[in-house]
Amino acid sequence: MIEKTPLPASVRARELRTQLNHHNYRYYTLDAPEILDSEYDLLFRELQQLEQRYPALKRADSPTQRVGGEVLSAFRSVTHEMPMSSLGNAFGQKEMEEFERRVLERTGLQSMKYSVEPKLDGLALSLLYEDGILVRGATRGDGFNGEDVTVNVRTINSIPLRLQGGDIPQRLEVRGEVFISKQGFNDLNRKQQTAGEKSFANPRNAAAGSMRQLDSSITATRPLSFISYGLGVQQGGERAQNYHQLLQQLSAWGVPVSPEAKVVEGVDGCVAAYADLVERRSSLPYEIDGVVFKVDSLELQQELGFTARAPRWAIAWKFPAQEATTRLLSIDLQVGRTGALTPVARLEPVEVGGVTVSNATLHNEDEIQRKDLRAGDMVVVRRAGDVIPEVVRTVEKKRPDGARVWVMPDHCPVCGAEVVREADKAVARCSGGLFCPAQRSEAIWHFASRKGLDIEGMGGKLIDQLVQQKLVTTPADLFQLDADQLVSLERMGERSAENLVAALQQSRDATLPHFLFALGIPEVGEATSRSLAHYFGDLDSLMETTTDELQKVDDVGSVVAENIVTFFQQNHNREVIEQLLQAGIHWPPPHHQEESPQPLLGKSYVITGTLQGMRRSEIKESLQSLGAKVTGSVSGKTTALICGADPGSKRAKAESLGVPVLDESELQKLLT
Ligand code: IVH
Repeated sequence: MIEKTPLPASVRARELRTQLNHHNYRYYTLDAPEILDSEYDLLFRELQQLEQRYPALKRADSPTQRVGGEVLSAFRSVTHEMPMSSLGNAFGQKEMEEFERRVLERTGLQSMKYSVEPKLDGLALSLLYEDGILVRGATRGDGFNGEDVTVNVRTINSIPLRLQGGDIPQRLEVRGEVFISKQGFNDLNRKQQTAGEKSFANPRNAAAGSMRQLDSSITATRPLSFISYGLGVQQGGERAQNYHQLLQQLSAWGVPVSPEAKVVEGVDGCVAAYADLVERRSSLPYEIDGVVFKVDSLELQQELGFTARAPRWAIAWKFPAQEATTRLLSIDLQVGRTGALTPVARLEPVEVGGVTVSNATLHNEDEIQRKDLRAGDMVVVRRAGDVIPEVVRTVEKKRPDGARVWVMPDHCPVCGAEVVREADKAVARCSGGLFCPAQRSEAIWHFASRKGLDIEGMGGKLIDQLVQQKLVTTPADLFQLDADQLVSLERMGERSAENLVAALQQSRDATLPHFLFALGIPEVGEATSRSLAHYFGDLDSLMETTTDELQKVDDVGSVVAENIVTFFQQNHNREVIEQLLQAGIHWPPPHHQEESPQPLLGKSYVITGTLQGMRRSEIKESLQSLGAKVTGSVSGKTTALICGADPGSKRAKAESLGVPVLDESELQKLLT
């Protein structure tokens, strides 16, 4: 039975929504928070609990909507009540003068004031507010019909779910640009790469891709921002007289507007404003591709009206394209620290927007094929702000005879090991993890890490030194180190050297799951290592197994199975393993591992928040030793969420999916 909502609960929920929306605005739009994150989380949780207990309290403007979670099968189409027009372009002062001449002629005036703003390089968005509440978000589409992306729009923190202040029109359509900052873009691509996912070519593509996600919880993780540049429909409320007042009004309602906006007079003012933004372009936190000038008077805007495609009262003065044509000398492969192979274009040096470019990233094999780039081609290179230069396209007409289609080599250019490519991923990897010089430091670090052989004191800086001085080339060499060699290293006293030798000795006493993790087989993490050890019992059987057999193991699909088989096929990897065993690394025989009861087999848990009694890693190990899986994100398959103090969004997700939430005492019961 649904509990009837008592009045105080609804009053409190409203209070919480107002407070949370206010703090959200202070944090994301003004960059001036008034409370601590932990205080925010506390309020957030209180609201979530109220909404969970009394579902009737859920509202469209509730900040709990921002975590996303709704998964659509397709976006609905939206017809814009007023078409979303595009802008005419100018490419220089002469064209700006022509624009002004047309404006003055049509209005019969002698001079004109313009509002100036940067032209953000993202995508246009329409936000519909009814009685101040965000009820719909839509993309521009073809200007007449767009897509309903409301669930994704709600995850964008700087977009108010409810307008603040007074005098709010009954219906108001706010228009603006959704975009990703330069910093957000670089962080996002790093994350994508680490996860073996495709990186985005530029911030615009990243923003567009994020808005087109059917799973709004993915959109929620993307660093999207929004800046408004005008209105669509408005019903009720006062109307501003000019554009700069409109921006002030929007800002007072809590809608972000450009901090760079200003009013100038005539073409001279426009030219100065343009020059100013050209100069500051690289120091702005987001990409811009020009400057937009709008007749400031809204009455005159109305008088000037629209052509078939664009307003007569506005123009975008575009920056000259930061593009140049040059020869693609070769396509080389770079081997990253984790074995990821990234093709790089070596170019005949060329100046693009004042910088000499001789290398450009090509992202991955698919991209090269899509653009059909071949060594020897003349290619167009683009540089966008601080972003790494990219090859946009080839000039096919100028292709030299005999230019060959590029294919990903079968073997790593650094170590010669086989290259593996995961079926559903864009990234190709070198499979010589244990001996590839490009991956040496990373492989050793992974080997020595806590989830691996847990060699205390073996940190990244020390490993870099050992590798650089060629004291160590594979993890097996670690076990040949003696205190005298270690003492010769920087910042290494006798005592620490001895401790390290002792730690190495201790680490020889390993477990099979830890050893398997330490090998660094692509995509074989802690849980998979554990399942493999449990299934095969000993290393030899695993090393000789087939992909078919491997897929019977919990957690192992065709991709991981392929990685494992390829890894053990590499003779060099086998040699290193042999050396490690000879160095005395050992683990308990199989029956010990199989004896322990596994009452939680098949169950899957997620841990969040701060737990008082036990460290998170200890809880994880205990659960795993009982056969459970511990994963990082809540899904419909999660058995329960183990929740300490100050949980983040995971608790909300669990509650929205109906996944049980266990506190510490319930956890204890589970473990005993
Ligand atoms: S005004 C009717 N202002 O540029 C005028 N647009 O090329 C509507 N854009 O579709 C647009 N920054 O997505 C305007 N400050 C700005 C803008 C801006 C970026 C985008 C917008 C528009 C496109 C036109």
